Amino acid sequence: MSAPFDRPLLAESDAVGPGPFDAVSAQAGDEERVVESALRPHSLADFIGQPKVARQLDLVLEGAKRRGRPPDHVLLSGPPGLGKTSLALIIGSELGTAVKITSGPAIERSGDLAAMLSNLGPGDVLFIDEIHRIARPAEELLYMAMEDFRVDVVVGKGPGATAIPLEINPFTLVGATTRAGLLTGPLRDRFGFVGQMEFYEPAELQLVLARSAALLGVELTEAGSAEIAGRSRGTPRIANRLLRRVRDYAEVKADGRVTRQVAEAALALYDVDHLGLDRLDRAVLEALVMRFGGGPVGVATLAVAVGEEPHTVEEVCEPFLVRAGLLARTPRGRVATEAAWRHLGQPVPRGGIPLGSVTAVPQVPGTSAEPLFDA
Ligand SMILES: Nc1ncnc2c1ncn2[C@@H]1O[C@H](COP(=O)(O)OP(=O)(O)OP(=O)(O)O)[C@@H](O)[C@H]1O
Ligand SMILES: [Mg+2]
Repeated sequence: MSAPFDRPLLAESDAVGPGPFDAVSAQAGDEERVVESALRPHSLADFIGQPKVARQLDLVLEGAKRRGRPPDHVLLSGPPGLGKTSLALIIGSELGTAVKITSGPAIERSGDLAAMLSNLGPGDVLFIDEIHRIARPAEELLYMAMEDFRVDVVVGKGPGATAIPLEINPFTLVGATTRAGLLTGPLRDRFGFVGQMEFYEPAELQLVLARSAALLGVELTEAGSAEIAGRSRGTPRIANRLLRRVRDYAEVKADGRVTRQVAEAALALYDVDHLGLDRLDRAVLEALVMRFGGGPVGVATLAVAVGEEPHTVEEVCEPFLVRAGLLARTPRGRVATEAAWRHLGQPVPRGGIPLGSVTAVPQVPGTSAEPLFDA
């Protein structure tokens, strides 16, 4: 039997799998993964933004180090590209322990998980990405492992099968999920610390960009970084990706320096608008507004209309569209807000939008329909 850790690990790229509409991520793939790992922060001090999660996690880790015991199990949740995997790896390096990585969909049988757990060294970190996709029998095995550091290994089949309890080394489970709502109650309750990752402020993204530009050897002006940050949908992965595309443009069409003009021209070329919406985001909004009269419409129908998987629309596009105040999720379906009609240059329908709570949608700074930065 091959060691369970040999299977293809990180589902990172799966979560944001380049959609047919995303001109920027269509060029991603292997290069993306290599650069992404080169740009990952390696310590909490290096990790930009998420002040609440970072401070709380710092305390959890410091407390555990002082007690000489592995910290509580950690669940990190939030949309793709906000730094969950980065934080999981940082937890390992802050604790000075090994991080074994797998993902929910890769654990098909509970035996795979049992083998992984019994291979953990004392204090190791087990990182399970996309933990909400773990198979149910494996999840049940995980309960006991998390609580008692014990697994039941079933020997034999049928009525003669017996469960032999096996001690495992104390470890810390770090789970990451883009869909905390899909986690079962019993699993969620077994995490001692839950970090909810938030979208980044433009100023924080500028820090991410400055750090990445230095690592990539790109000359980036303040105004250039502001332009990219404002179009990065509050997401470091997107900021880094746009930086690389803008760098290409700067090298080929200009003198290599990323100024505001260069960033603007490059991002226009890549169909990234001034709010940071790419072609898929715009296609979703356009379908909602133009084909379904602003909604309400179910996410499955919306996904068919844009030729994408419902989960891509739900996990990749919608969180930001909601936070940007362009789309609302209602019990009857998705509804375009007034801002969405205006953003697409469409007259807002008379009689208003069929939703009273749209104005209550939280706004992320820098995601209003106004221009984000002064020229
Ligand atoms: N706080 C941060 N500071 C600097 N760079 C960051 C930060 N967070 C994320 N990044 C950058 O963004 C990239 C994506 O982050 P990461 O892979 O950790 O996201 P994720 O939340 O795990 O996404 P997914 O849900 O798709 O797995 C990283 O490679 C890193 O370069
Ligand atoms: Mg990840």
